Amino acid sequence: MYRELAIFSGNAHRALAEAVCKHLEMPLGQCEVLEFSNEEVFVRFLDNIRERDVFLIQPVVSPVNTRLMELFVMIDAAKRASAGRITAVIPYYAYGRSDKKDQPRVPITARLVANFIETAGADRVLTLDLHAGQIQGFFNIPVDELTALPLIADYFRTAAYTSPVVVAPDVGDAKRARNIAQRLGAGLAIIDKRRSGNDERAQAMALIGDVRGRECLIVDDEILTGGTMMSAVRLLNEQGATSVAVACVHPLMAARAFEVMDSPEISELVFTDTVPLVHGEFRRVPTTVLSVAPLIGDAIQRIHTGGSVGGLFR
Ligand code: R5P
Repeated sequence: MYRELAIFSGNAHRALAEAVCKHLEMPLGQCEVLEFSNEEVFVRFLDNIRERDVFLIQPVVSPVNTRLMELFVMIDAAKRASAGRITAVIPYYAYGRSDKKDQPRVPITARLVANFIETAGADRVLTLDLHAGQIQGFFNIPVDELTALPLIADYFRTAAYTSPVVVAPDVGDAKRARNIAQRLGAGLAIIDKRRSGNDERAQAMALIGDVRGRECLIVDDEILTGGTMMSAVRLLNEQGATSVAVACVHPLMAARAFEVMDSPEISELVFTDTVPLVHGEFRRVPTTVLSVAPLIGDAIQRIHTGGSVGGLFR
């Protein structure tokens, strides 16, 4: 076994790391993570971590490549400081959409990032709602993937929805939507979404299922530009939905998402705090942020003590 638990944060989302430590009733470890004027990243642990069970919390959010580099350098510094075991806690795994070669001459960057994390010296990865579960297999070290879907389902269960239909904004999201629909005893509908080229424009083409007179709950893993969601919201409103609520695990929210989604076409927005909302705020649409800190904290505790992480979801 390793010596005691030690948790540190990079610069991506310190508030989440602090909330995890608060849940575990322990202090956040002290660590300098800074960038020199030539943009080189520097890390120094201020606590002794020799032989300790070290967890480094860093969702890979904007500026994505800097946050990734911070994570790699933190892992390297922990390794060289003789940490007993290093777990990269990545609440949001960027580059997840680049998970296959679906056009000629393109990379599989999700795999490349996995290679970098391993090469830096991580022993394990703890993450949440990967864009595609198969990304776990890009690693040769253990990966625990948590899910915030039960949290979102619990929220909708306690909200006053009488005849909800859970909607997948894309065929690839159908499994996720079905999971929530089953938890709620709700109906399921699926949108056929198309993207043209690589310019981030999404178009909801058709709806499989009936939403007339029903409350729609669209659930996605992430929102970036808001294009996928707004296209889905408009289609559902056209098809006679009485209201359309929007939920996602990772609200990446580029600045234009705040412009297009702060719209009366959406009845409410539900997110988690795997990533910080940095580019704006929603003023018109009621917004709820559910914290994943207790979930991450409990998973860390179980990994540290050799308990079952799967047991968290039974
Ligand atoms: C795509 O497959 C994902 O599940 C999301 O639908 C997508 O990343 C959302 O991106 P945007 O908000 O830019 O349409």
